[in-house]
Amino acid sequence: PRPISIVPSVLPADFSRLGEECRALEDAGVDRIQWDVMDGCFVPNLTFGPDVIASCRSHVSVPFEAQLMVADPDLLLEGYVDAGCDVVIAHAESTIHLHRTLTKITDLGARAGVALNPATPVSAVEHVLDLVDMVLVMTVNPGFGGQAYIPTMEPKVAEVRALLDQRGLDVDVEVDGGVGPDTVAGAAAAGANLIVAGSALYRDPEGLAHAVADIRSRAE
Ligand code: DX5
Repeated sequence: PRPISIVPSVLPADFSRLGEECRALEDAGVDRIQWDVMDGCFVPNLTFGPDVIASCRSHVSVPFEAQLMVADPDLLLEGYVDAGCDVVIAHAESTIHLHRTLTKITDLGARAGVALNPATPVSAVEHVLDLVDMVLVMTVNPGFGGQAYIPTMEPKVAEVRALLDQRGLDVDVEVDGGVGPDTVAGAAAAGANLIVAGSALYRDPEGLAHAVADIRSRAE
């Protein structure tokens, strides 16, 4: 089985102290940090431009991944790569030329990821799996943290994992949305090995390090 990575979303973090919050996450033992990039068009919320991420880059050494929940990712790819994102994830639904978008991410020097909203079938990415380092199966409708996990996405996670294995592709499967102590086991059993969590980590009364260790142990 693929190693489990815990990838916190900084969406619930204190935006007035993002550099410190990134350090706290790194100290808590996370494997990467996910930046939920939202443009107010693709999703009804607005978050981080490249400069915000660039300002946090030097505070930590863990990899950054940018999930581009934006209406036109091609306009923004270079900015997020230059800001220091190691992985840039484009939504399959956000561009009519997904093969070109994913190729451009790699050409810019980052690793490419592709994300699927809950209603989007796995078939939407079956012809680009060779271009990506990871496939993100959203387990909520994107736009906000703190939403309820959609368990009917687990067969979809399993379908992506099976397709990748069938093709012998060394590609991770990530879940994001409503993932916490009570839901991570199902997601991991279905085949997810990159675990994004936001509110579940920040609401643990015993702190971030406990939350990270707890969710990791429940996934393994
Ligand atoms: C949805 C966001 C959230 C966030 C994590 O657009 O992508 O899923 O990362 O939120 P929680 O873990 O609080 O559901």
